[in-house]
Amino acid sequence: MKLFIDSADVSEVSALVKSGLGLIDGVTTNPSLIAQSGASIHERIKELCAVVEGPVSAEVTATSFDGMLEEGKALAAIAKNVAVKVPLTEEGLRCCHALSREGTAVNVTLCFSSAQALLAAKAGASFISPFVGRLDDIGHDGLQLIEEILDIYRAHDFATEVLVASVRHTGHVTAAARLGAHVATLPPKVFRALYKHPLTDRGLRAFLDDWEKTKQTIL
Ligand code: G3P
Repeated sequence: MKLFIDSADVSEVSALVKSGLGLIDGVTTNPSLIAQSGASIHERIKELCAVVEGPVSAEVTATSFDGMLEEGKALAAIAKNVAVKVPLTEEGLRCCHALSREGTAVNVTLCFSSAQALLAAKAGASFISPFVGRLDDIGHDGLQLIEEILDIYRAHDFATEVLVASVRHTGHVTAAARLGAHVATLPPKVFRALYKHPLTDRGLRAFLDDWEKTKQTIL
């Protein structure tokens, strides 16, 4: 399963890519994350595309088909590894179809049902982004949606990758991995938490304490 970082903070993404070499396969952003960063979207997407080799999702903010298409083309022109993110609306799926036919990778976002995911795959999306955390927040089961979408995509051999978004904790990541999701995009805090287990820390401390008593050195 691929792991993306859900952030527009270039120094944080860059630090994670350096320390987790080989573990980070891409980045996702959205208008809220770009707004939080305070950076210009063009600048920020360019910087992120230079930091990671894999896809960097950059989201359109127009809501009409023509507007989304124009913005999508402008975003795609920033770097070869941009994936244009469009919302799951009628216009968004039309735009997805048009951009995909031209060879641009499209990430269809704000997906909350398997019916929506079916349409996105038929529209040629490279990625579908179901938001698990926001579904959990309203008392639904976000991971159940991932399972349903994977069943549909497998049954019909769709090439669209399921990108698990709105991840809140490591349990979402491991459950998505067990289900066979293609990608999960993680806030930096959740990515760092994947390394952690209290027994690892405690075990290492004990090994090092015992080793010190031997007065040996390996080198
Ligand atoms: O980028 C889309 C998604 O990951 C947003 O997550 O935490 O705002 O629900 P969140």
